[in-house]
Amino acid sequence: MNKKIKKFAVLGHPIKHSLSPQIHFLFANEFSIDLEYKKIDIDQEDFFDSIANLKSEGFYGLNITMPLKYLAFQICDEVTERSSLCKSVNTITLSDKKIIGDSTDGRGLINDLNKKSISIDGKNILLVGAGGAASGVIYDLIQGKPKQIFLTNRTINKASKMQEYWKLFADKNQVILKVIDLNLQKKINFDLVINATSASLSSKDSPISNSIYNCLTNSSVCYDMMYGSKTPFMKEAYKKTDLVYDGIGMLVEQAAVSFNIWHHLNPITKNIEEDLKIL
Ligand code: ATR
Repeated sequence: MNKKIKKFAVLGHPIKHSLSPQIHFLFANEFSIDLEYKKIDIDQEDFFDSIANLKSEGFYGLNITMPLKYLAFQICDEVTERSSLCKSVNTITLSDKKIIGDSTDGRGLINDLNKKSISIDGKNILLVGAGGAASGVIYDLIQGKPKQIFLTNRTINKASKMQEYWKLFADKNQVILKVIDLNLQKKINFDLVINATSASLSSKDSPISNSIYNCLTNSSVCYDMMYGSKTPFMKEAYKKTDLVYDGIGMLVEQAAVSFNIWHHLNPITKNIEEDLKIL
């Protein structure tokens, strides 16, 4: 019998360097699943038409990356509570009648931290950045029950708006949410600093100041959601701690959650980063 191959794609702009196809092929290989997975470069203005076209071409699942996650949230007929609060969708399922959306970035981050044996329970986290990337992970950070999440951003009023928006959810989860200035006047013990800015794409400087680096000890963890090269944030962090990571593990883990949504299977992610280096 001729089983129909399911069609998938990742949409973004730019998309050339996306590793999503390789990751999904490696996952599919584990379960001997045949699938098609394309990279499609899409401008924001073409997004809604493109989704309609891909639907009529029989695509089953779409990953959505920068800068389309908010548009993807808008086009969905149904989203999860997580996506609804984050206003972000990176995983679309095109069912017969509906466009269904979810956001797997936050779970990708948490699963990667777990894999690295980094617990956030009861800890102090500093989340740097107040754009789409930060909003996409804060739901899961709050659910991880840290003691406090400090928010900061180059444009500080965006961090304040983010605090106002997430306050209720944080209160419900007994997590303290605070905004701090980038030029910190007092010392705070940060267990984990997450760089969710896109600073490394446009600047040679770290998005955080020395006053924040001076709060770090050799047991603090610094995590940059970007991957591909050692960012200025990471280079400075290495002067304080060896526990410095880029976002490649998060990329693999968010893909694993997407794979689970579409195939109802949990791929083994352990060796994927190594396999990607070989490919
Ligand atoms: P994304 O979806 O990648 O988060 P975004 O919504 O445009 O993209 O947000 C980018 C984030 O990176 C913002 O927090 C931005 O700070 P501003 O709100 O002040 O713009 C931050 N960012 C970008 N370039 C930066 C830089 N050179 N230094 C510090 N922060 C930077």
